[in-house]
Amino acid sequence: MSVGRVYNATKWVDTAGNVIRAHGGGFLQQDGYFYWFGENRTGGKLVSCYRSRDLATWEFCNDVVTFDTHPELNGCNAERPKVIFNDRTGKYVMWLHWENGIDYSQARCAVLVSDKVDGDYTYIKSFRPLGHMSRDCTLFKDEDGTAYFISAARENADLNVYRLTEDYQDIACLEQVLWPGQKREAPALVKRGDYYFLMTSGCTGWTPNQGKYAYSRSITGPWSALMDIGSPTTFDTQPTYILTISGSEETTYLYVGDRWDPSDYHNSTYVFLPLSFPSETSMQLQWASSLSIDVETGRVAVEQNRSELFRLRMNWRYLVAAEDGQIVGSRLSYSDQRQLWALEETADGAVRIKHWASGKYAEPENGSREPGAKIVLGDKADHRRQEWNVLKVGRDYVKLQNRFSGLVMELDGGRHGAVVQSALDSGAHGAWNSQSVLLAEVYQ
Ligand code: DGJ
Repeated sequence: MSVGRVYNATKWVDTAGNVIRAHGGGFLQQDGYFYWFGENRTGGKLVSCYRSRDLATWEFCNDVVTFDTHPELNGCNAERPKVIFNDRTGKYVMWLHWENGIDYSQARCAVLVSDKVDGDYTYIKSFRPLGHMSRDCTLFKDEDGTAYFISAARENADLNVYRLTEDYQDIACLEQVLWPGQKREAPALVKRGDYYFLMTSGCTGWTPNQGKYAYSRSITGPWSALMDIGSPTTFDTQPTYILTISGSEETTYLYVGDRWDPSDYHNSTYVFLPLSFPSETSMQLQWASSLSIDVETGRVAVEQNRSELFRLRMNWRYLVAAEDGQIVGSRLSYSDQRQLWALEETADGAVRIKHWASGKYAEPENGSREPGAKIVLGDKADHRRQEWNVLKVGRDYVKLQNRFSGLVMELDGGRHGAVVQSALDSGAHGAWNSQSVLLAEVYQ
């Protein structure tokens, strides 16, 4: 079999040339195929299924769940579908996150079954497991056949681990509440050696955040504390699954993530990234622009391109230069080139912040030294107004202090406003502070 080549975060198409619509996906291996189930939000479709032998060439199988499947599914929002096979009943069982299609207030899961892996799935029911809210979720079948459903509960504050009944179609019990109050979502679970690894994201809607993982000897715990993995934006992705490739030479583990585009869901893409394990209990995630995967041997080779560009994120908004040259906070958009910036270092350790699309530089409007003055773009000039000190205010965050005015960039009005200059505040730093800037590297 040929080696598959995957180009991450680009538009992936199936063998018929159609865009692959399978977000929040889950996988199942059978008869030499990887089956991929995921969200399809087009034309009354809910979950679509594709299959591949090499993880690179995907053949469309079926729209396995549609609005027509059941009245409760008509117009609903179905997220993060996962499928496992039940050896006792011979049925494929799918669990997903079910919402009414208007908002996220229902917080229910739904169960569907099929006799065929890519058949039309029959709707069983939607419900809140043991009365708990249930949003982002995953399903895991352990080596002994016991299956678990893991889902975000209590307004996403907790991550609940439920054991399923023997037919996998219902909840047997709540085994554990993981990291109460720490607000984790997008769970993805894998077993490697004697340890289970659970990867999750924070809760920031469609905007990427720092992924974390934990390990345990048993699904029912105790689990370790949460540890950071990947980059502060998890390479601009959110977890959905961890694939195991059991090759003849190696067993490798691939992180599957969605690169959601908050400005246009349908512009979202996928990534397969290599996971590595420096020790029995530690896991690392690496960026790969592309990778070749040999499912036969389990070998994965990585290629990386550095873009040398950044997005500047303040309070979950991304800085963009508007038509009039003003810099404002905006929703992340992967197609908006105006959100890209280059940082040019000066000889004495400051930076010039160059707007990539226009070639202009960030500076206070009219050379102002006043607090509240807007930050705008100006033609390149050799003066301190275009030089910014990079003040580190946390492991990932900086404040940008103008060398001429001595004031720092601030996102005015919380999130919706323009970027202005203000006196350096001494308050809490971090992602929610309106002066803190994440220099988010652009991973292509
Ligand atoms: C993040 C979740 O992980 C996604 O599946 C989706 O529910 C979005 N939130 C909605 O904002």
